[in-house]
Formats: sequence, C-alpha cells, structure tokens
Amino acid sequence: MRLGGEALKEEIRRRVDLVDLAASYVTLRKSGRYYKGLCPFHQEKTPSFHVDRERGLFHCFGCGAGGDLFDFVMRVQRLTFPEALEELARRAGVEVERSPEAARRATEQERLYQAMDAAVRFFEEQVRVSGGVRARAYLERRGVDAEMARRFRLGYAPEGWDGLLRALEGRGFAAGLLERCGLVAARQSGSGHYDMFRHRLVFPILDLRDRPVALGARALDDAVPKYLNSPETPLFSKSRMLYALNWAREAVRAAGEIVVVEGYMDALTCHQLGVAHAVASLGTALTMDQVLLCKRFAPRVILVYDSDAAGMAATERAMELFEDAEVEVRIAVLPGGGDPDRYLRDHGAEAFRALLGAAMPIFDYRLDRATARHDARTTEGKVAIADEVLP
Ligand code: UTP
Ligand code: MN
Repeated sequence: MRLGGEALKEEIRRRVDLVDLAASYVTLRKSGRYYKGLCPFHQEKTPSFHVDRERGLFHCFGCGAGGDLFDFVMRVQRLTFPEALEELARRAGVEVERSPEAARRATEQERLYQAMDAAVRFFEEQVRVSGGVRARAYLERRGVDAEMARRFRLGYAPEGWDGLLRALEGRGFAAGLLERCGLVAARQSGSGHYDMFRHRLVFPILDLRDRPVALGARALDDAVPKYLNSPETPLFSKSRMLYALNWAREAVRAAGEIVVVEGYMDALTCHQLGVAHAVASLGTALTMDQVLLCKRFAPRVILVYDSDAAGMAATERAMELFEDAEVEVRIAVLPGGGDPDRYLRDHGAEAFRALLGAAMPIFDYRLDRATARHDARTTEGKVAIADEVLP
C-alpha cells in the first residue's frame, strides 16, 4: 500500500498501536481504560504516564508531555516530523507516496545508502582476511576490543587501487554511483575510477537510523592526511553530523547530557570504557548545526576538547556557539596536553567521569583561564583578568 498526506497518517494510526509502541520504552500496566507507566520523558518514581489505547493518545500528568503516536516517536527518538513519519511508515509496512521526481530521487538515495552499506561490509570483511593483519595489529595497539570494533563497524580499506571498486561492481554497483558516495574517484586520464580509501582503518559514520553515510579513515602509518574523510555527498553533510550519536542517543537521553569530544578515537574509547553519552564533532571546528543537534538531544553539553592550543582555541569558538544557541555548556579540562582517548587509557573511566563532573560553566572556565595567565596578586593582573572575564 502506498499513501501520502492525511491518508498516510490515518493508515499509520490504524496500523500502529501506541501501547505496543510505548511498551518498548516503558513498562505499562493496564489500569481502567488507561495503560500507566513511568514517564519516559522525565525522572519519576510513581507512574504518571498514561496511554489511551482507543484514542491513540498519551499524556503525562507529571511533566505535561502528551500527544499522538507521531508526537511520541518524535520525542522519544528525537526525530523531526518527516523523520518520525518515515519511521512509522516503515513500522506499519506502508509505502510513502511521492511525486515521480521525488520517487526518482528517493530511489537514487536508496541506492546510495545500499552502496555505502555494501562498502562498509566490504571493509569489515577486510579486517578479518589475511590482508587485514596490519589493521588488526593497529586495533590491538590502540586497545580497541573486538566488541567495540564490531559495534562501531570498524573496517580496513586494503592497499591497492581498486579492491573496493571491483568488489562493489561485482555486486551490481556502478562506478558512477560509488563516485557520488565519495567512495571512488574518476581517474585524471578520464577512463576508469580508483578507490579513495586505501590502507586505512575505516570508521563508518552512521546516521540516526544506523545507516552508514560517510567514512573517516585513519592512516595506519605516517601517511597524510592522518584522517581522510568522505566528501560532502547527497547522504552526508559533515557540518550536520555528530559521530557516534547513533550509538549514544539512548545514553544521552538517560543522562540528560551529551559529551562532545573532537576525534573518532576519543568517542570510541569513551564508549568502550562506559561513557556512552559521548559523540565527536569530527574535527575541531564545531558548527551551529551541530550545536542545534546537541540541543535536540539534551539540555546540557559537556565539551571535552584536546588540551592543546588548537583544542583550546576551538573550545573558545564552540562556547560562543552554545551561548548563541542558549544551550547550557560546561567545559571539562584535561590536564597535560592530551585528548580524551589518551586520558581514559592512562587514568581510567572513574577519573574521566570525575573530570566531567568538575566541568565548568563558561564564566568559571574563562576566569580559570585568565587566572592561569595573569597574576591575581597584582593590580595589573586583576585588571587583566577582569578585562578577559567581563564581557
Ligand atoms: P586529532 O589529530 O586530535 O586526532 O584530530 P585523534 O582523534 O586524536 O586521532 P588519533 O588518536 O591520533 O588516531 C581530531 C579529529 O579531527 C579530525 C578527525 O575527525 C579526528 O578524529 N581530523 C584530524 C581530520 O578530519 N583529518 C585529519 O587529518 C586530522
Ligand atoms: Mn586528538
């Protein structure tokens, strides 16, 4: 069945039971004509979350959250309305009707997603085969455990110029399509294509529906750049993604807080050591779109950038974005010039959590920086500190 507009919404309402849907997030008990449980949208000890099965509505008498199943999915999964509609249509087994042009675009999109997924599967396989020996050694050296490598779908892009290209062409993906995914590039000579990612450890970047949309690929030696990233594609806009948000979302919601680090490895190590509400901003320059994405998922952000000069400069810029977006942000300071990955490996999760707990609001952070730079015992020092801290 293929539907659009109101008819689509109606059909979804008819097919998806709000009690069943909500039951995967809360334990519900029947009480009179309602189902009751602990509200998934705020902390509480006695159930004030009600679902009315016949009407397909929910309401929480504790926090006031309420609405229909679209509102529920938007809130619980932090999706926009169109995303929630797609999600529920899929669940209901209803196809979303599109104009011929939109349908063509959707089909092309679908092929791009399939190609990205096939590529990631290819890279995952390459870790296991004999050619992946150096990737395996690298993972071991960095202390990435097998469970993490599997969950984060880490892979190995083999040496050579066309391993991926040939494998995916063999699976029915045309070179042009792979080029639009940023997986291969056209040869200068104009004939043929070659693999973009070679002899690198591959970190797939997954969207909020767990679909690979891009790659970050780390050199296994001193090759430059250290990380090679996918270009912008129809599936991927770097400035709008946060790496690992797909794995972090539940923990973020539970914590009411999101930890933002710089690097792929920082995020991965956070997750491996149990700091599961961490995401990476994919480099140092945080964007407003990323800030708003954070805001969509949590009321509070903890920024833990590298404690080198670049990281500190990036922290300054990021703080201003969070201020502009009116998001509560705290800055955690890593001692000794390292990054979260290094700190977690050296000092463990407890020490890292203590740093997060001691994260400072913007004013305190600025004061802390200024006091470190100037001598608060002298008048000149006091003036300089005041100049830096007071806007
Ligand atoms: P870092 O240089 O701090 O790398 O860059 P890292 O995360 O500590 O990596 P390891 O531990 O040496 O493996 C931080 C982030 O900046 C982006 C990547 O997202 C990286 O994780 N970056 C860095 C690039 O995109 N390209 C680069 O060449 C370098
Ligand atoms: Mn780093």
